[in-house]
Amino acid sequence: MTRRVRQSPICVGLMRVTGLMWLLVANTAAGQTAEAFYASDVDSIVQGKCITCHVSGGQAGGTALRFTSSVSGNHGVFDSYVNSPTKGARANRVLSKITGGSGHGGGQVISAGSADYGTFSDYMDLLSADEQPVDPGVFRVALEEPLQGEVHTGVGNLRGWAVASEGITKVEILIDGVLAFEAPYGGSRGDVGGAFPDVAGSSESGFSLAYNYSGLAAGPHNVTAVAYNAQGETQESSASFEVVRFASPFIADPDAVNLNGASCTVSSDEISIVDARVDGSLLDLMLKWRRAEQGFEIIEIR
Ligand code: HEC
Repeated sequence: MTRRVRQSPICVGLMRVTGLMWLLVANTAAGQTAEAFYASDVDSIVQGKCITCHVSGGQAGGTALRFTSSVSGNHGVFDSYVNSPTKGARANRVLSKITGGSGHGGGQVISAGSADYGTFSDYMDLLSADEQPVDPGVFRVALEEPLQGEVHTGVGNLRGWAVASEGITKVEILIDGVLAFEAPYGGSRGDVGGAFPDVAGSSESGFSLAYNYSGLAAGPHNVTAVAYNAQGETQESSASFEVVRFASPFIADPDAVNLNGASCTVSSDEISIVDARVDGSLLDLMLKWRRAEQGFEIIEIR
């Protein structure tokens, strides 16, 4: 359904809504406790692909797998399900059900061989493993913004977190494979601290900076965060994304944008603005709600 909006300033107000996001990017299962791995890698899949049915009152509400918003609670649900009656007894049953086997009431939710399947399989291994394997140490980095596969424009966040048992010495940022700068490291991250309670400094493991995505050429790009631990070893996390930008990388004139002659149409989670005057050009803009950013972002400039 499309609705016409008379006053363009309403649309502009919406653009200012910003917020935080909490998205952990998958890396490896090595050296993790099952619970930490669940928190960093698995819960997002459960929230996205299982909980619609596997919730009290849901289609699978009669099974033992009922999830909530509690990360540690959900891990506990899996722990008791998989390890009953014996350690790892039902690990294969979970892997079979999610791929549509064993007559799963939800059909195929994850395809065998996909990244999500690999994550579940690693998690099942961790859950089934004998108590506390010898901890070979934790070393993880996660780039959270830019968002993989999304459009970025203007000045935005470039951020994530990194933890290592030996301590993180630096986080380097590569733009399109070329070392660009070192990211300031040590920002407060209570959520990461909660996921890695045994790693010293894990609750001050954030890196974050303001980055001008419009300084890059329009089109596809890649950002990689490379974390170094005290032994000089590295771990990486990357995201490919697209830049949409105005002609100038930074519009300095405070009066450069004028929407008095513009009109806007809203539909679903998108706002389309026609005839916006930006820096002397008449442009059509498309804005879309972005959950991770908790705000609207320009995704098209024509
Ligand atoms: C569209 C609804 C739906 C979705 C989505 C769904 N399931 Fe299910 N699931 C069911 C139903 C209904 C059952 C009960 C029938 C059965 O045993 O298959 C079930 C049963 C199961 C069982 C067996 C439970 C038991 O009592 O032994 C497992 C394990 C399971 N699901 C795992 C998952 C996981 C993990 C996900 C997410 C990756 C998921 N399911 C997503 C509907 C769903």
